[in-house]
Amino acid sequence: VARASRASVPAPLRRAAEGVPAVRLAVLSDLHAAARRPEVIRAVAASMEAAGAEWLVCAGDVGAGGADDALRCLRALDRACAGRALFVAGNHDIWCPPGEPGDSWDQWRRLLTFPGSLERGNRDLGGGLCAVGVGGWYDYSLGDDGPWTRDDVERKQWGNVLWRDAALARWGATDAEVCAGFGQLLQQRLDEAAAAGLRAVAVTHVLPFAQAVQRRPDDPTWTFCNAFMGSSAYGEAIAARGCALAVFGHTHTRKRGMAAGVPYVCAPLGYEQDWQDADAAAEVARALAVVDVSAAHGRVG
Ligand SMILES: [Fe+2]
Ligand SMILES: [Fe+2]
Repeated sequence: VARASRASVPAPLRRAAEGVPAVRLAVLSDLHAAARRPEVIRAVAASMEAAGAEWLVCAGDVGAGGADDALRCLRALDRACAGRALFVAGNHDIWCPPGEPGDSWDQWRRLLTFPGSLERGNRDLGGGLCAVGVGGWYDYSLGDDGPWTRDDVERKQWGNVLWRDAALARWGATDAEVCAGFGQLLQQRLDEAAAAGLRAVAVTHVLPFAQAVQRRPDDPTWTFCNAFMGSSAYGEAIAARGCALAVFGHTHTRKRGMAAGVPYVCAPLGYEQDWQDADAAAEVARALAVVDVSAAHGRVG
């Protein structure tokens, strides 16, 4: 009886009664094609329910590539978590079908039709917090030196190593220009949150912090691709605004930590061939991060 009555109290009220003034987020990214599987969607909803999470922060790369598939997966996720899914676009989400007209801006604009898109505008999370997000891009600032040239990095190809955005992301601008454009939008949205008196939870797809980049000095392929991990400029903007939390995806390494005084979480589901568990629901439960955020002290639990 005690369990039943406890479960009937909405999660935010229960935590307030317990003296925990926080908003509870479920964080997940990089579902890729697994987001098409109903058992994955069900497992996300079940994990959120079990944790009493109020929002699902989905940090990009949802779907098998391109905006249409991402939107299909997002709608399924959103239905499963009662319209509480928030999203920024990953690099795979803006991929253009080969041979078809249009560019990645068309794909990006199409993703803005999702109601939980943070790139449409900030979202008040309650508790004095606000989700602010852009998918972002990369400017090679998180990369490593190696035997490749600047030209190799700009072409995203070094010998047999090909970063697939080379063929499938078509912005009609340099990576640095695209990255800076998203940086300006991030800055503007952080300013809007501050003007509204709200503390930001900053969401990007790419990495904002060098500390979060996986370094593998003995793996040249991996090391080459670190150029495409993100931008330190995003991290500087996030730290300068004293964000309560930074959420990102893109690297398929699950990680929580602290960078420039900002707690961060990266909770990718990742490609199925890399899963630790054969059971999709178990892998979702393992990947999904539950984070309590408070506007007051940036407390993260
Ligand atoms: Fe990914
Ligand atoms: Fe990605």
